[in-house]
Amino acid sequence: METPRPMLEADGLTKRYEDGNLALDHVSFDVYPGQVYAMLGGNGAGKTTAINLFLNFIEPTDGEARVDGIATHKEPLKAKEKLAYVSENVMLYPNFTALQNLDFFARLGGNTKYSKDDYRQVLLRVGLEEEAHNRRLKGYSKGMRQKCGIAISILKNAPAILLDEPTSGLDPKAAVEFIRLLESLREEGKAILMSTHDIFRAKEVADVVGIMNEGNLVMQRSREELVGEDLEKLYVEYMTGYMDEVA
Ligand SMILES: Nc1ncnc2c1ncn2[C@@H]1O[C@H](COP(=O)(O)OP(=O)(O)OP(=O)(O)O)[C@@H](O)[C@H]1O
Ligand SMILES: [Mg+2]
Repeated sequence: METPRPMLEADGLTKRYEDGNLALDHVSFDVYPGQVYAMLGGNGAGKTTAINLFLNFIEPTDGEARVDGIATHKEPLKAKEKLAYVSENVMLYPNFTALQNLDFFARLGGNTKYSKDDYRQVLLRVGLEEEAHNRRLKGYSKGMRQKCGIAISILKNAPAILLDEPTSGLDPKAAVEFIRLLESLREEGKAILMSTHDIFRAKEVADVVGIMNEGNLVMQRSREELVGEDLEKLYVEYMTGYMDEVA
């Protein structure tokens, strides 16, 4: 059997910002179709930088981020077609209803095939009740906006999904629903890369967990390798281990 090709590849990915700050230092990892990869790490570890490199929001200093084999900084438009992205603070139109936002962003992405019923179905799938569909987003809670953002990314039907702290600000029930949604997207074969501070949920949903510290990937383990492990303890160990080295 042919080995599947990774959908997302960080290959020696390095970013030194203009002010000299080395935010990512030759980081390499892969995310395969049907996998959830969770990036853990403290504030400033480089998680958002890694995601922004996949999106080509910023250029790598060295190495590259590839989506389905396409280097994002070399062929950004081709790469972007294969990516759906939900940021921590979803940017949607506050004066539009959920249905209007979905229609606007689907058309913006070149999709004119969707009916109002399709929009309703995807909104229900992400857990937005019928009653909310025709309400303007400015009256939405953060969790509801997040769901709307995820609905838009589902409509894009991209093979890779990038999520920067998707569960931050979600109440426990919404976070659980969100994890179930990720699982159903994984079943569809999506490759999902997410950053999170939620160790508990990372262990629950992730097929692979990576821990970042000061721009380095200091630990990476598969679900199998984490069975019976206390991820929280490991996390602290890797953080303090690193601190000991630099002390
Ligand atoms: N535009 C920028 N210019 C200069 N330095 C930056 C820029 N963006 C981020 N950094 C720095 O790069 C490092 C990594 O930041 P990044 O935002 O990627 O971390 P993070 O892991 O996402 O953190 P958090 O958990 O707080 O979201 C930090 O030291 C940060 O100060
Ligand atoms: Mg971040």
